[in-house]
Amino acid sequence: MLSAGSLVKPIRKVPLLGWLVADPLLARQIHNDTTHFSIVDDGASGHWWAQMLGDWVYNLFEGKAHVEFRAQTHDLFTPERSRALVDRAVGPMLHRLTADLSAGKTVDIGDFARAYTGRIMVDLVGMGPSRGATDPDTPYLELFDTVEQLANLGKGSWKTTTVSKRMARKGHALSNRISVGVPAAFDSADPATTIGRCREVGLSLDQTIGVTTLLVVAGTATLASTLARMVALLHDTGSQHALLADPSLIPDVVRESLRVTSSMPIVGRGVVEDVTIGGQHLEAGDRVKIMTWTINNEAGGFDLDLGYVADARQLWFGGGKHFCMGAQLTNFELTGVLEALIAPGRPWKVTKRRYRRNVMVPLYDRLDIELV
Ligand code: HEM
Repeated sequence: MLSAGSLVKPIRKVPLLGWLVADPLLARQIHNDTTHFSIVDDGASGHWWAQMLGDWVYNLFEGKAHVEFRAQTHDLFTPERSRALVDRAVGPMLHRLTADLSAGKTVDIGDFARAYTGRIMVDLVGMGPSRGATDPDTPYLELFDTVEQLANLGKGSWKTTTVSKRMARKGHALSNRISVGVPAAFDSADPATTIGRCREVGLSLDQTIGVTTLLVVAGTATLASTLARMVALLHDTGSQHALLADPSLIPDVVRESLRVTSSMPIVGRGVVEDVTIGGQHLEAGDRVKIMTWTINNEAGGFDLDLGYVADARQLWFGGGKHFCMGAQLTNFELTGVLEALIAPGRPWKVTKRRYRRNVMVPLYDRLDIELV
């Protein structure tokens, strides 16, 4: 369906789905226009999240409150904080990845990606370390599963993002499980942590619960998806050899992986005022879907020689006022994995792979690799 998206270039109305946009300039125009398009109206993610997480999403995600919120939280993921978060939450895991591969062990990168993301998210929501679990990764995989279950409730929201009361209750129960550790951590969290920083910039406990939940739901499946697919793409395209020969290609690998996977493949908006774009007249109440994956993949498959694609320029992170808050962190998270992966200086082969079925964001359920 995403490949077929290019048939609608630049913009076309499709029955039941609404307006599909497969043009980078129009995509940017929509991202930058909060007068005519809204993230909290039917057809957009904010509208769906508000019903799952609470009405505070409506208040926080548009207009003045959103501008203030972004100003308050702009330094949550500076390069320094992002690097510190990665070192703190997954530093030992990265060392273990290098050691296990060097020792000839098989590593399941599908599992690794879920635990890796889970550990970073546990740090974000202030949960304590593993409590009595035999496998130290268990609590992190559990958090990942909870977030994935929540995201999976979004399957089938193509036509409308209005959900049933039953579905909203399920969503609330899951989001409460995600943020359960925030109240206990709030007063004493180190200012170097996300919760501590939220408190320092003046967010209340309720706002901090909201922000951390949102960070976790936005940054879990997306990151895990790109991470494992990046490892597979490097293998399948043979680009791992170029990377091993020249580690300065790491930023190119990260950029290409984000472009080709575009793990938030479609971004929705509701039309709140009539507007003409790309020669089409859109009316208030219409729904728009920006075909991010389709646009980003127009330039072709994963290719480290492709260089910077001006049209796609970070479109995988959205644009305008809602540009991804976790973009810097994502870069550090993926860079950390690449550094650990190439540290032994040898290529890897994929010995087993299985896709995760029936999920909202495409993921590897299992991706076994070992060094050759
Ligand atoms: C591969 C990784 C990621 C991708 C592809 C991605 C993609 C995106 C996209 C496309 C948007 C814009 C959505 C829209 O306009 O409707 C977005 C927003 C957002 N992202 Fe990410 N994201 C990633 C990782 C993360 C991480 C790790 C975090 C948090 C730690 C995060 C937090 C957020 C938040 C909070 C927003 C909403 C910002 C706002 O509306 O002001 N993302 N992301």
